[in-house]
Amino acid sequence: MPRADSHQLNVRVEQLREQINHHNYRYHVLDDPEVSDAEYDGMMRELEALEREHPELRTPDSPTQRVGAAPSEKFGVVVHRRMMMSLSNAMNPEEMVEFDKRIKRFLKSDQDIEYVAEIKLDGLSVELVYEQGALVVASTRGDGINGEDITPNIRTIRSVPLHLRKPGRDSIPRLLEVRGEVIFPKAGFAKLNADRESAGEPVFANPRNAAAGSLRQLDPKITGSRPLEIFLYAAGVIEGASFASQWEFLQGIKALGLRINLLSRLCRNVNAVLEYWNEITEKRHALAYDADGVVAKVNSFELQERLGEVSRSPRWAIAYKFKAQQAQTVVENIDVQVGRIGSLTPVAKLRPVPLAGVTISNASLHNLDEIRRKDIREGDTVLIERAGDVIPYVVRVTQQGSPRADEFQMPSRCPVCGAAIVHEEGEVAYLCVNANCPARMRESIRHFASKNSLDIEGLGDKLVAQLIEQGLVKELDDIYALTTNQLAGLERMAKKSAQNVVDAIQKSRNTTLDRVINGLGIRHVGEHTARQLALRFKTLAGLSTASEEDLSAVRDIGGEVARSIREYFGEPRNLKAVRRLEEELQIAVPAEPSGRGALRDKTFVLTGTLNSMSREDAEGKIMAAGGRVTGSVSRKTDFVVAGAEPGSKMKKAQELGVRVLDESGLLELLREG
Ligand code: IVH
Repeated sequence: MPRADSHQLNVRVEQLREQINHHNYRYHVLDDPEVSDAEYDGMMRELEALEREHPELRTPDSPTQRVGAAPSEKFGVVVHRRMMMSLSNAMNPEEMVEFDKRIKRFLKSDQDIEYVAEIKLDGLSVELVYEQGALVVASTRGDGINGEDITPNIRTIRSVPLHLRKPGRDSIPRLLEVRGEVIFPKAGFAKLNADRESAGEPVFANPRNAAAGSLRQLDPKITGSRPLEIFLYAAGVIEGASFASQWEFLQGIKALGLRINLLSRLCRNVNAVLEYWNEITEKRHALAYDADGVVAKVNSFELQERLGEVSRSPRWAIAYKFKAQQAQTVVENIDVQVGRIGSLTPVAKLRPVPLAGVTISNASLHNLDEIRRKDIREGDTVLIERAGDVIPYVVRVTQQGSPRADEFQMPSRCPVCGAAIVHEEGEVAYLCVNANCPARMRESIRHFASKNSLDIEGLGDKLVAQLIEQGLVKELDDIYALTTNQLAGLERMAKKSAQNVVDAIQKSRNTTLDRVINGLGIRHVGEHTARQLALRFKTLAGLSTASEEDLSAVRDIGGEVARSIREYFGEPRNLKAVRRLEEELQIAVPAEPSGRGALRDKTFVLTGTLNSMSREDAEGKIMAAGGRVTGSVSRKTDFVVAGAEPGSKMKKAQELGVRVLDESGLLELLREG
């Protein structure tokens, strides 16, 4: 490549990286973005394309290099240069005032102590180490001295800068160890669990567990697919910079591009901390993440130094916990529910009790191991808590029933159909063997009709239960034989609503393959996997005859998933239902995502006004066919699409000899693709 050109390329790559890092900072640290997501994505795509074409330009701290590392066998050990301490707790305002007095006694001072009040985030604490500005190691807290090396996983978190910013006139510190919390936002948590549930995978009990589970993945790709975020709040060893106080430290790391919690507050005395606690207590449900209290830290680093620590907790800080969203009630009995894949889940039926604004009468007990560990029995009084503000769970038994009931046993026969239950040694699951079990059928239909599957409105729980009871639906495809008269004959079904349901069923016939695959409810196959399978196999017939080997070759599909798909189609009854669904439905293949279609890896630049579609539509279509759209013309551009009144890009294309298409040329290309 001529020198001038390679120089230009370097400049562009650098410029894109700077812009992307700048927008990351605006978005994650300042919470004040300047560009739309689409504009940001456009820059990322252009940078990715340039780096793909010129791998020699890739650097480890390029914003594209978040999910690069291969899965590892196990985590390495990281020794923390400074111990990662924990915090002592205060449970009420009196204990907070006592904490403040203790500090004054220790310092032999009666002056007000200044504190920084912060939110106590309910996530996983981690340490990041930056050397000469580059993120070199990230680790878990572990036992405070030895943590686990989770660097590749931490790199996938968008709010973690891979390289620090230069803060104004100061320089970047030689060494910066900074600690903080990785959290799983509530909204993402609800979605993750919904996806896991529909893929027949165990759900996480709360966002904290989801954060921990996501960070402790050996494959960073999985971590990268989760919407984790970080907040930094404490210093480790720092060389080449110094801070006089916690507040100065927070502002300092913010200027270095690290994300701090913007709700932190400098408080002139302990009363101001108590006020802060009151305010945050009110707000806690509106926060995007789980918080379990407020942390008060003596602001001055000099005073912190003098105060020191006792038994692994600093004397200069305390966690003032929120009042837990807890209540006590009696376990009236323990029921067993049967899921879509036949798995039995014990559920505590509780004497109804109000908790955080709703009445709670059920709590999942997850599995037998959990019941044994907590020794929960019928008649016991238990403490329940709303985790992640949604699913209530049993924390522990607070009073045993009297007389005490026997230990709970999993039934040996399915509570719904009476078939045998299988349980493999060493596994947690208990499964009903009957593929025809009405409970399984009910869950299967519910899943089949759900929003991300066939999206049949009006096919609610009660109706599904009746359809099965009446023998109107025995297999998934039976839904398509239902008539208005049959439905109108059911309890609480007016003719009009029967008609609506039949209309919704008719409407669902026109669908896409990914929805159908998702709707089948194959174990471990959720929305995402269904999409990959649809793109690869194109038809149900193709998927149903694919070998385990073919399946494993699909992106993101591992051995366990492949086996589970084979098992599903190996069952003649499933195969029959699938064949009949193929006849009933008009199934289209979903659009290819960018980078995989017929225009794969072709780079387009659009200029001028198009007639038949908007520029966004054109971009969408090109990307759907696997092409890329970039902003500027270079020798690497494959096509320039010129609409009416094209600009200088057209001229550039002609100079460089890049092929120019008019609108009809683009349409033709898309059709071919
Ligand atoms: S400071 C020496 N600040 O609470 C002080 N910790 O019980 C070290 N935590 O392991 C921690 N939010 O995981 C601090 N704003 C915050 C925090 C926070 C949550 C967690 C952290 C730590 C635990 C201590």
